[in-house]
Amino acid sequence: MLKDMYQPNPEFAKNANIGSMEQYWELQNRATEDYEGFWKSFAEEKIDWFAPFTSVLDEFNAPFVKWFDGGKLNVAHQCIDRHLDTKKNKAAIIFEGDRGDKEVITYLDLYYNVNKFANLLKEDFGVKKGDRVVIYMPMIPEAAYAMLACARIGAIHSIVFGGFSSEALRDRIEDADAKVVITADGAYRKTKPYMLKPVVDEALKGETPVKKVLVVERNNEEVTWVAGRDYSYNELIQDKSATCDAEPMDSEDPLFLLYTSGSTGKPKGVQHNTAGYILWAQMTMEWVFDVKDNDTYWCTADIGWITGHTYIVYGPLAMGATTVMFEGVITFPDAGRPWKMVQEHRINQFYTAPTAIRVLHKMGEGEPAKYDLSSLKVLGTVGEPIDPPAWKWYYEEVGQSKCAIVDTYWQTETGGHIVSPLPGATPIKPACATLPLPGIMAEILDPETGEKVGEGESGYMCITRPWPSQIRGVWGDEERYKSSYFGDVKKDGKPVYFTGDGAVYSGDGYITITGRTDDVINVSGHRMGTAEVEAAIKKHDNVAAVAVVGKPHELKGEGIFAYVVLKSAEGFADEVEEVKAINTVIKQEIGNIALCDDMIFVPDLPKTRSGKIMRRILRSIAKGEKITQDISTLEDPSIVAKIEAMVNCATC
Ligand code: PRX
Repeated sequence: MLKDMYQPNPEFAKNANIGSMEQYWELQNRATEDYEGFWKSFAEEKIDWFAPFTSVLDEFNAPFVKWFDGGKLNVAHQCIDRHLDTKKNKAAIIFEGDRGDKEVITYLDLYYNVNKFANLLKEDFGVKKGDRVVIYMPMIPEAAYAMLACARIGAIHSIVFGGFSSEALRDRIEDADAKVVITADGAYRKTKPYMLKPVVDEALKGETPVKKVLVVERNNEEVTWVAGRDYSYNELIQDKSATCDAEPMDSEDPLFLLYTSGSTGKPKGVQHNTAGYILWAQMTMEWVFDVKDNDTYWCTADIGWITGHTYIVYGPLAMGATTVMFEGVITFPDAGRPWKMVQEHRINQFYTAPTAIRVLHKMGEGEPAKYDLSSLKVLGTVGEPIDPPAWKWYYEEVGQSKCAIVDTYWQTETGGHIVSPLPGATPIKPACATLPLPGIMAEILDPETGEKVGEGESGYMCITRPWPSQIRGVWGDEERYKSSYFGDVKKDGKPVYFTGDGAVYSGDGYITITGRTDDVINVSGHRMGTAEVEAAIKKHDNVAAVAVVGKPHELKGEGIFAYVVLKSAEGFADEVEEVKAINTVIKQEIGNIALCDDMIFVPDLPKTRSGKIMRRILRSIAKGEKITQDISTLEDPSIVAKIEAMVNCATC
């Protein structure tokens, strides 16, 4: 048995959906022995099919797989209509605005609002099944209506996080060939209005596939209206019918795209399809958060990320839960805001990122004690490894040593949780994602041999069988799908899904994620490709070469460290100004989330004779580690000492 284990709260376990390790193993063994039977029974039980599926898993064309082929369903129906008989007056969404304004949207309200939205898209915008619709929205209920309206009529939504710049938005619109953008004039942050519509206007300049823009008027600030292109949601929605049939979708019809960073090139449009995604979103809500009928669940993510898709909108609504949506900033007006919200809404499950926990801990160590947090049952974390001090504070001060902490490991491509404790069953080890969820064949493999590694050994985090909510493709790029995920590790000679993460078995088969093995940085739980940041920095006229690496950061987990070689020192009177100028370019190209924490101007980069930049050396220097790598193969080995001296000088 592992040391420092926290056993599930026995009172909680009594009523938990999975209440013991025996139950966990029974499920996992069932999946191992009869994989298709396992998934068939859950798909039949959980989904309200319009027409039954005829096969469970089709691997004929692997890694392109089909789940529940022949079945017909609709995700909006699964999330709304099927609950109306029993829950029409239950709160589906509880919205809390930045300024403390509140709105409760029942399942019946949601049904009407989504139907009207769907009718608007069909009638006024001509949106049809299969069309791509980009959603660039703040955290307001209309964002959820927009997603569900697309799902209702079979349009494929692609949400772009509201913090991305006009350039990033333009790239995503073009790649998806979207004909419609849904946005808002803006919203509120720290009680002040901020704007989104001007970013959309900028993104649509010049040639664009976008024909129409729908604008939700949230903060009523003045915006530019382009005649024949831009329309007010608030006006158009008035005369829309509140009934709209849900389009019968095939199990494998696409539900949405979500762009995410990879280690090379531009962001990839990760494609999720209908049946498998919604099934696993719902099952993991039930198992991992153990949400009961009278519970109120709050996930603090933004709908612009996969966590917002699966665990604010689709998962909670598919199971008929009450989900909280929050427009504001969790540290405003002070670091007691989330705990005040937990007290007021009597939140039972609270799900956030380690970065947020670190910030709330640092800014408001004693804040949780000021509020009544007795309603809390399950606390969740996601997006990055959580460090033991943050874990301890979360467990003791927020959870009052009685709530399970579910450290959920997953990614945009997995659609839902992959490795996570079950709150009523799994003995928890701090900062450890513990065991694969039942039905998920997650293993740490040796990349060379494809063999499962032993206890205490590290390897590559892989999933050795297809699972229902797995990525179905990279939009418009079959090759990239294969090479990004199925190129690196083979088990028994067959390519298996590789997550891009390293992991170690840390006792009793428990999995601890050790971080990315590729050139992806995890900034505040968000993925940032170094290639993407480098491409942005290179757009600055005076940049000759650049290399970007991650560096441990006290609050963000990882920060961005850029080594920049300038073309000329002319006009480079002021280093601070040059850093500012480069950061402005990053802001324009990607957005504030990609701003560099450290930037250093160097005479050259450590390159091999064939021109390959030795990033490992740069990573070590950024971390202040001693260089142990062989540098004799470098074109100019002396550059390493020069860069080291410059970094030491800048940080001393
Ligand atoms: O490196 C892993 C890390 O976040 C990556 C996925 O990022 P993204 O697709 O943006 O999705 C974030 C929300 C699911 C993973 O490849 N990651 C995610 N969860 C954890 C984690 N690292 C450690 N522990 C976790 N619980």
